[in-house]
Amino acid sequence: MTIEVSDITPKIGAEISGLDISKPLAPEVISELRELFLRHLVLVFRDQSLSREDHKRFSGYFGELHIHPSHRSGLNKGGDPEIFVIDTPADAPRSNGEAWHSDVSCEAIPPMASLLYVTKVPDNGGGDTMFANMYEAFSELSSDLKALLMRKTAFHDGEIDLRSYGIKLRAGQEYPQASHPIITRHPETGVPLLFVNSSFTSHIEGMPRWESDMLLSGLYDFVAKNARIQCRMKWTPNTLVMWDNRCVQHQAIRDYAGFDRYGERVSILDGKPPEAA
Ligand code: SIN
Repeated sequence: MTIEVSDITPKIGAEISGLDISKPLAPEVISELRELFLRHLVLVFRDQSLSREDHKRFSGYFGELHIHPSHRSGLNKGGDPEIFVIDTPADAPRSNGEAWHSDVSCEAIPPMASLLYVTKVPDNGGGDTMFANMYEAFSELSSDLKALLMRKTAFHDGEIDLRSYGIKLRAGQEYPQASHPIITRHPETGVPLLFVNSSFTSHIEGMPRWESDMLLSGLYDFVAKNARIQCRMKWTPNTLVMWDNRCVQHQAIRDYAGFDRYGERVSILDGKPPEAA
């Protein structure tokens, strides 16, 4: 089997073909995929027929399977705790992940990657996902701003995201909160990157709230409006996309009201908390 790689943009994303990921993979194939993953940050595998066990086996080649905090906190009962269902029926008022984010950065150790397998694509042709490269976001900042942010940490609060879906915790329920450096260093590539996002980061620690709000909203805008560092992924049925959650943010585009979309996500851990650059 020969793996073929086609860049989506020069900065982020690659389509991988010539590989059936439902089958057990040889160690040299896994190493090649890991290299491609570190280089392109987002890998797209189309026309895959995956059972939940196949999805988990493929994910497990790259890290330990993560359990979403909604399962741990009791907000999401039943089902398979290692599978995070992203089911958007035609009449759903909202879909998951509509704001730019990295997955559950409110965890003390956020997932290193997520692998989303979409089987039902909206019939109106919508439901794309945007991805943005946070190495590039950092590298485009001025040296003065880099120096300031490198000395700071930010607080990531899981309740911000819950509240945006109208979910309130009941007595005894808890959701993760964590403090992370704003500029982290990728544990495998060693490259610095911007690690704050609008779904989970509440404030920069150790500065007046208005200054924190001003800086964070500027950074969020810079990520959202900077097409140079983004790619837009158009799903086809039975596509799995794997992204590096340590250095990529993503946003699900809800432009398909009245149409269904269905996917299941597995996230994986490397056991390493984000480290300051
Ligand atoms: C997410 O993982 O945040 C959702 C992405 C998507 O549904 O495209």
